Parts: sequence; C-alpha cells; structure tokens
Amino acid sequence: MSHKFPLLPVQASTVAPEVDALYWTWVAISAVSALLIAVAVFYFFIRYQRRKSGQIGHQDHGSTTLEIVWSVIPLVIVLIMFVWGTKVFFDQSRPPSNAVEYFATGKQWMWKFQHPTGKREINELHVPVGRPIKLTMISEDVIHSLFVPAFRVKADVLPGRYTTLWFQATKVGEYHLFCAEYCGTEHSLMGGTVYVMEPDDYEAWLAKAPGSGDQLATGEQLFQRFACNTCHFDGPRARGPNLEGVFGSTVKLADGSTLTADEDYVRESILTPKAKVVAGFEPLMPTFQGQVTEDQLLQLIQYVKSLGDKGAKSTPAGQTTEGAQPAAVTGGAAAPTTGG
Ligand code: CUA
Repeated sequence: MSHKFPLLPVQASTVAPEVDALYWTWVAISAVSALLIAVAVFYFFIRYQRRKSGQIGHQDHGSTTLEIVWSVIPLVIVLIMFVWGTKVFFDQSRPPSNAVEYFATGKQWMWKFQHPTGKREINELHVPVGRPIKLTMISEDVIHSLFVPAFRVKADVLPGRYTTLWFQATKVGEYHLFCAEYCGTEHSLMGGTVYVMEPDDYEAWLAKAPGSGDQLATGEQLFQRFACNTCHFDGPRARGPNLEGVFGSTVKLADGSTLTADEDYVRESILTPKAKVVAGFEPLMPTFQGQVTEDQLLQLIQYVKSLGDKGAKSTPAGQTTEGAQPAAVTGGAAAPTTGG
C-alpha cells in the first residue's frame, strides 16, 4: 500500500502539477549543488593536504574568469527560478474571473463553509470537479490557515480581514483539509474533508441537503432585519448612501479621500461606521459590532455585492433582488422625520 504513505499528496487541482514541477526542480538543483560541493570538498581535502611537516601553502589571489563564472551561473539559475516561481505564485493566488464564490469562517476549532446557495457545512466542503472555486475567508477569533495539500493551496485566515484562496479540482475524491497555523489546544483536530464530486452528483447533493435559504436571500433578510433599508435607499430623504452600484466602485469620503468598495470596506462600514464616512452624509449610523456574526457579515456583503450592477437585477445564483427596492423605499417613507 505505497499510496497510503506517498512522498507527496495526490495532485488534485490545476495548480498542483505546476507547484510540484517547481518543487522537484528546486530539489534537483539543490541536490546537484550539494553533490558538487561535497565532491569538491573531498577533492581539495586530498589534493591539497599537507604532505610533509613545515610545508607552506601556495597563495592564489584569484582568477577573474572563475569569479565571473561562479557568479553568473547561479545568478541565471536563480533568476529563472524567480520568474518561474512568480508565475506559479500568481496562478495560485489569482482566482479566474469565472470562479464561483464560497465562504469559509474559521473559529476555535472548526471550519464553517457556506455555498453560494446558502447551504452550510462544518468541517466538510463539497465542491464540483472542474470548476474554479474561490473561497473568501475570515476568522472569528485567532489566526488560522486553510490548507488542502492535494490542491497545493494554503492561505491564512485572519480575524478582521478577508483573505481568499482558489482552486479548481481535477479529480473526484476525498481530500484532507487542515488548519496550518497553531491556534490553540485543539489546533491539530481542526481539520476536515473536501469532497470533490461530479457536477451532477454535486447538484443532486445540494438538492438533497437544502440549506438554510439562499445566501443572497438571507443577506437581503438581514438587510431588512437590521433596518439597513430604512437609511440606505435612493432618494433625497436617505440618511445613508444608496448601496446600488457601490460594490467595486470608487467611494468618495467626507475627508476628501477615495477608496474602492471591497469586502473589507463593507465589513468595516457595518462594524465601525464612523471610520470612513461617505461624503455628503452625517455620521449617524450606529455600530453593529457584537450584533452581527461573521457568517451574517458575509451574507450581507454578498447582498451588497448583488446590488453592484444597477442595470441587471438578476444575480449569479439566479435569484432576483426585487423586493429589496420597494421595501427600502417604504422603509424610508415610513421612517419618522428626524433631524428636520
Ligand atoms: Cu485553527 Cu490551527
């Protein structure tokens, strides 16, 4: 059962062969260099040993040719490896634009995953084979790190900041996932399994195990439950900026600076609204720190993202966000007149 104790885990993602090729090339270069050095040490040891007592060694003050040769050859090798390594790094860290977004939350000591459909899992992640999948990840407590050896991907999962990891599985099967950052007593138990399935099997699995509602629908419900819609709508009476088209756009702040609205910005605006106030608005928004979980923040972000394209209301999940707008308008109109 040699496959029970393989030298390297199976290659089960598109980047795995790239990573391994780079790895083995480095191993080969290191091995050849080590061998050359060892041979040279032995050769010089024998060739230049003192043969009679009182023998004085001959001083050699160098050779320019030799200096150039042993500087240029390693330089070329290292530069090739640098360019190659950079290519693999970018392939590994930049998700393709058609990647489907999943979410991961790390906490002591478990992994929670959310599918685009809203389906949730703990310590297990089911994904279809052959599709690029992007994980947006955050921690509820300390630093964790998500590691799937068979996919050759690993990324730290931090409290207070979103990180991403992507992969495209190439082989149906079950693969271990680990926490690769020491995070407390049960760090070694903080693992699980990635199940890579045929797309049809995956759809069947999703249908058989329905989640707690669509991720977007849940985000929209939260948007109303936390009464976000009573301030964030389009109109002169709005006390907060209209969120349509905000995600991914450039936002002008009260202090004159600008930023691009991304996941971290939306999260910060919910938890610490006064940190970055949008130009033209009063810092009226209360903090939702302690009232909203990391999972809910991800759902809210997903919802805000879905408002990204003003024109097209249909979302990747095939859901419509209709209902949010009338609700927002009603909420705004129904709101008591405050602040004159
Ligand atoms: Cu989480 Cu180690």
